[in-house]
Amino acid sequence: MTAKLLDGKAIARDIRDKIKVRVAALRARTGVQPSLAMILVGQNPASRLYVRNKVKACAEVGIRSTLHEFPADIDAAAVIARIEALNCDPEVHGILVQLPLPAHHDIHAVLRTIAVEKDVDGFHLYNVGGLVLGETVFPPCTPYGVMKLLDSAGIDVAGKNVTIVGASNIVGKPMALMLLRHEATVAICHVRTRDLAQYTILADILIVAAGVPNLIIPQMVKTGAVVIDVGINRLPDGRLVGDIDFEGIRKKAAYVTPVPGGVGPMTVTMLLENTLVAAERSVAPSRTETLTAAAK
Ligand code: GUN
Repeated sequence: MTAKLLDGKAIARDIRDKIKVRVAALRARTGVQPSLAMILVGQNPASRLYVRNKVKACAEVGIRSTLHEFPADIDAAAVIARIEALNCDPEVHGILVQLPLPAHHDIHAVLRTIAVEKDVDGFHLYNVGGLVLGETVFPPCTPYGVMKLLDSAGIDVAGKNVTIVGASNIVGKPMALMLLRHEATVAICHVRTRDLAQYTILADILIVAAGVPNLIIPQMVKTGAVVIDVGINRLPDGRLVGDIDFEGIRKKAAYVTPVPGGVGPMTVTMLLENTLVAAERSVAPSRTETLTAAAK
């Protein structure tokens, strides 16, 4: 068996084309240009690269982006104050704080400061908690992108055994809640899981977000499984790889995502979509407002 590639780059391009049309339509109809503010603290090279990619992606679809850079030793209160100012700025529809933050910041306090209706990363306490009830204002971008990838290949998750390797707040945990909502049977594995293979081998869909190159080898994968690799690791020789033995697993799985060009472009695309939706909502009365008006 040779797995079909889930080509995130191509699928992302299709979605971005549609976003571009919607951005132009919103501008033509209302004069509002969707706008994303990004906060970057310190010199982490990976974070700087991610933010650069997001700035470029925004420009390609007509979303305005502003970058708010701070030195690594910035006072934590200054970052919070900037978020509060952005919350009040009607020209800003989405706010993103690039993670990780230097250790002296209280990351939960920072993320809780972002106005929920501008939390396009979906990391605010409300949005994270909303996943339990299926009531998020914005779904977090990476798990949302994975769901779109599966959907684009016609892969229904209902009733499937899904194993997630990695229990991070950004990927593993929200991914599990989204899949559960779509009626999958979900197992989450993490660094303390004993005998990882006994979970991965059962998976109809295996999602790996551990940040460990070659963690998943073919013997750990069920024949015909769907394997989604969320890992991005830079090897000492400069190559970018995911968390799976791609060439080996390609011979055994039904579908597999490449790295780069799999989940990564989808994450950025869902950020663009969330920012556009934030801008669209800013000019349309929300359902709650409509209901309140109708009751008067
Ligand atoms: N750091 C790693 N992934 C992400 C992400 O999706 N969003 C933000 N803000 N920071 C990250």
